[in-house]
Amino acid sequence: MAHRVGVIGGDGIGPEVIAEGLKVFAAAGVAIETVDYDLGGSRYLRDGVVLPDEVIEEWRGLDALFLGAVGTPEVPPGVIERGLLLKMRFDLDLYVNLRPFLFPASDIDFMVVRENTEGAYAGEGGFLRKGTPNEVATQGSVNTRMGVERAIRYAFDLARERRGHLTLVHKTNVLTFSGDLWERTFKEVAADYADVETAYNHVDAACIYFVDSPERYDVIVTDNLFGDILTDLGGAVSGGIGLASSANLNPERTGPSMFEPVHGSAPDIAGKGLANPTAAILSGAMMLDFLGEDAAAGRIRAACADPDTQLDGTVATGDAIAERVQG
Ligand code: IPM
Ligand code: MN
Repeated sequence: MAHRVGVIGGDGIGPEVIAEGLKVFAAAGVAIETVDYDLGGSRYLRDGVVLPDEVIEEWRGLDALFLGAVGTPEVPPGVIERGLLLKMRFDLDLYVNLRPFLFPASDIDFMVVRENTEGAYAGEGGFLRKGTPNEVATQGSVNTRMGVERAIRYAFDLARERRGHLTLVHKTNVLTFSGDLWERTFKEVAADYADVETAYNHVDAACIYFVDSPERYDVIVTDNLFGDILTDLGGAVSGGIGLASSANLNPERTGPSMFEPVHGSAPDIAGKGLANPTAAILSGAMMLDFLGEDAAAGRIRAACADPDTQLDGTVATGDAIAERVQG
């Protein structure tokens, strides 16, 4: 039976890279029935719609969501990011943002488990005396025991399936409240995983290690904001952001998970056929894994790792990958 996948091409290069992803799934022989959703900055500029609750409800009946990129320079910051992307992550409880970094040309092979529903992204805070000389702005970081623990447990399970090593990244020397909760929870959960070796790095030190000695990492678990920043760095040190894929997972499968490249809508190169579709295609491979299509996912990953598929141009790269994935 065909997998039913909601497709949100979005803005800028989003639709271009998604088209290559769909081309590759078809070439790999995976039966997918797509349902298209016209959402993002362009749609908002047209009729003011960001993400209606009815659409979220419709999505609950789908098997997965495949998203290109959303955001346009004409829309004020936050409208689409909070109203669409974060609303998807929060409402569908996509609490793990899993971002793999694999670079065959080096020893890099690690995954970041980014907590995806809390922290500085929760939206806690506000203004006092806005627009006056005495203006105050606060933006808190929300960390619940439940939210922290479920991300950490997912990361331990993942480390167990891989090389058995898990690093917590935080800033416990300064963030003594949230850091304490993360560290205590990490240590308590570690007691259930005696076979997994653990480590801790402050986030600033982790930035050095990402550049200097990334081979030390197997699985990393961290909060939402540190995870956002670190995974851009991860992309930069492992072949570029054009290869960085991600999965926004609801591990309990109480609804669809969402798969999207780490990169944004890149309005500067949109419409020129220059974007590398590999990040979107690899995000699609994560989707196929999650849908149980392991063989096709493996072929797609192998094709993406072949340097001969990394050509100039979105369509040329997509074609080269599609050519190599026939099952
Ligand atoms: C990402 C992006 C988003 C984030 C933005 C677009 C809201 O940077 O997926 O990493 O900050 O999570
Ligand atoms: Mn980011």
